[in-house]
Amino acid sequence: MGGLRGRDFLTTNDFTQAEIQEILDFAFLLKKDFQQGKPHPLLPGKTLGMIFQKSSTRTRVSFEVGMAQLGGYALFLSAGDLQIGRGETIKDTARVLSRYLDGIMIRTFAHAEALELAEYADIPIINGLTDLLHPCQAMADLLTIWEYKGRLQGLKLAYVGDGNNMAHSLLLACSKMGMHVAVASPQDYQPRADIVAQALENSRVHGTTVLVTTDPKCAVKDADIIYTDVWVSMGQEKEREKRLEIFKPYQVNLALIAKAAKDAIIMHCLPAHRGEEITEEVLEGPQSVIIAEAENRLHVQKAIMAKLL
Ligand code: CP
Ligand code: NVA
Repeated sequence: MGGLRGRDFLTTNDFTQAEIQEILDFAFLLKKDFQQGKPHPLLPGKTLGMIFQKSSTRTRVSFEVGMAQLGGYALFLSAGDLQIGRGETIKDTARVLSRYLDGIMIRTFAHAEALELAEYADIPIINGLTDLLHPCQAMADLLTIWEYKGRLQGLKLAYVGDGNNMAHSLLLACSKMGMHVAVASPQDYQPRADIVAQALENSRVHGTTVLVTTDPKCAVKDADIIYTDVWVSMGQEKEREKRLEIFKPYQVNLALIAKAAKDAIIMHCLPAHRGEEITEEVLEGPQSVIIAEAENRLHVQKAIMAKLL
């Protein structure tokens, strides 16, 4: 496990393809153990702090349960109840918490806060979602794709909707693993240029493609995976009406998925807004793998923690 111990998990792009594969392989083993009721207390006596500036169902529960299954302990730390909420610096918080904990998972707004925490903490920092990235979700997504498709290399993932933290993380993670990625977003809501540049650099190594377009039909053509996420992310509530109007042509519905490969799987990080980014019939349809995808958060994060902490 040598090379991963002590590292932060802020973006998949800090890791090589082999390291990501190592985590995925280990997640798969942990999942098999879990299904057979075989315990794996790999982190006895270790403690994870979980700082939340935003709401969560999956991230909170899967990290907390995952840590328990590894024989460790997880503390839920609502940012509003920490002194951070009253102005204590991230620098001081990072240094103090490093003396109590073995790792910190943080969900916050500005990605710079997660970076600052990592800079001053002596323990691994895991990104549980920032406005920029959601790498743990992308790892669970890779595991899910691999389970359903039997491989990653050469597959095409089409992301349709807001060029947000999920679009960014999928661009980076899929391109790193040798997949083709196409993103369709409205002109003013496309993924950030620096992230697209990183994805392009990843794809150059594998000879794969990265496409950013405004045309959802073009993005999903021959896609093996169609992915979408909410049109209004946490922190964007004031833009709700405007966004619902602008994103209307980007709904993942039966007409759109008919343009993809016949055996394409449909993915969504959840929570979903039925009738907005995805229709009920697609979300609940035979191609949807959303619940298995959510389950994989547990297994992949256990693998991340067992390797890093
Ligand atoms: N997908 C995801 O991160 O869900 P939560 O916001 O419920 O944690
Ligand atoms: N893009 C969404 C993802 C939620 C898991 C958000 O940031 O709210």
